[in-house]
Amino acid sequence: MTSLLPRNTTVSVVAEGRSDGSAPIVQLPPPPDAPGLRIKAFIWRLLWPIRWPLSRLLWLASWVFRLIQWTAFGVHVAIDYVRLMYLDYTARPDDIFIVSYPRSGTTWLQMILYQLTTDGNMDFAHIAEKCPWFERSAISKRNLDQLPSPRVFKTHLPYIWLPKRRCRYIYVARNGKDVAWSFYQFYRSHFRYQGNFEQFFRLFMRGWVAWGSWFYHVRGYWKRRQDPRFLFLFYEDMVQDLEGAIRRIIQFCGLQIPEQRIPEIVRRCSFSFMKQHEEKFDYAFELLVDQGITPGSFLRKGRPGEGQDAFPHELHEQFDRKYQRRLAPLGFPLRTPPG
Ligand code: A3P
Repeated sequence: MTSLLPRNTTVSVVAEGRSDGSAPIVQLPPPPDAPGLRIKAFIWRLLWPIRWPLSRLLWLASWVFRLIQWTAFGVHVAIDYVRLMYLDYTARPDDIFIVSYPRSGTTWLQMILYQLTTDGNMDFAHIAEKCPWFERSAISKRNLDQLPSPRVFKTHLPYIWLPKRRCRYIYVARNGKDVAWSFYQFYRSHFRYQGNFEQFFRLFMRGWVAWGSWFYHVRGYWKRRQDPRFLFLFYEDMVQDLEGAIRRIIQFCGLQIPEQRIPEIVRRCSFSFMKQHEEKFDYAFELLVDQGITPGSFLRKGRPGEGQDAFPHELHEQFDRKYQRRLAPLGFPLRTPPG
């Protein structure tokens, strides 16, 4: 690698490190000086009275545009939801909706239903591939009609927003305090939330968190628990007796599962098994998959020349022509992979 420092400049590493005992710090020499740079710096300082108000004005303008952008985003999401729910989504009688307030065991149910409705192989990048997030597909424009039956969707929509059709809905509820705590941890790890739990809890109680009030959500579905299209489950019961919960789901959905498959399904839906495959369930990876980015594609192969091998001949030529025009005259070398 070429150094950015002028030749013969030395970088001294202070070996004794910082007073707090952390890693040694590096002291850089001052950058090269030039009379032109000093004049520029002087003018820049003279402009201070103009710079400050101009900077504030641009700051304000940036906020105004951000607000417009957020409002526009909200409107566009609302339009897309309405379109999906009332125009684009055609229910099939074997559709299954997993419904919940976030952090209540949604992903767990996704895995259970995936195991029950397929051969259960783990050959997918993220569970959302197999069991999409219904309302999110409005934004990602995923074509739900292409999914094979029985389709299993996950949704966090409150009852009032749920597309109510002739299909099955499995609601899972969890103790609100555990939900609040789990949600807080999630906010910290995935949304970089900086507040403490008390502050978060206040927001949670007012329903000023993603997906609104937990109380309102649970209430809306609890009232419909007698509706034959609904199965109401509790997270705590599932922890206590996973096999029992799986059997209830099988019965509710009218599935035919050979008895000898049950122990393996229970094993695959255990916390330890899912933890081992966490990237297939993590929301962060879901967002990546949604944008077409595959988990594990960041540190890919680390092999020079792979891209060059993949180039078709015409692209090689196009590149080489431009290289010859723009860079070769400057003596910029194109390195080729060793051997
Ligand atoms: P914790 O944060 O308390 O660990 P959701 O999928 O609705 O966001 O819910 C996430 C919660 O469900 C997390 O709770 C997660 O650990 C828990 N969960 C997911 N799979 C589970 C499993 N197989 N067994 C028990 N809990 C599970």
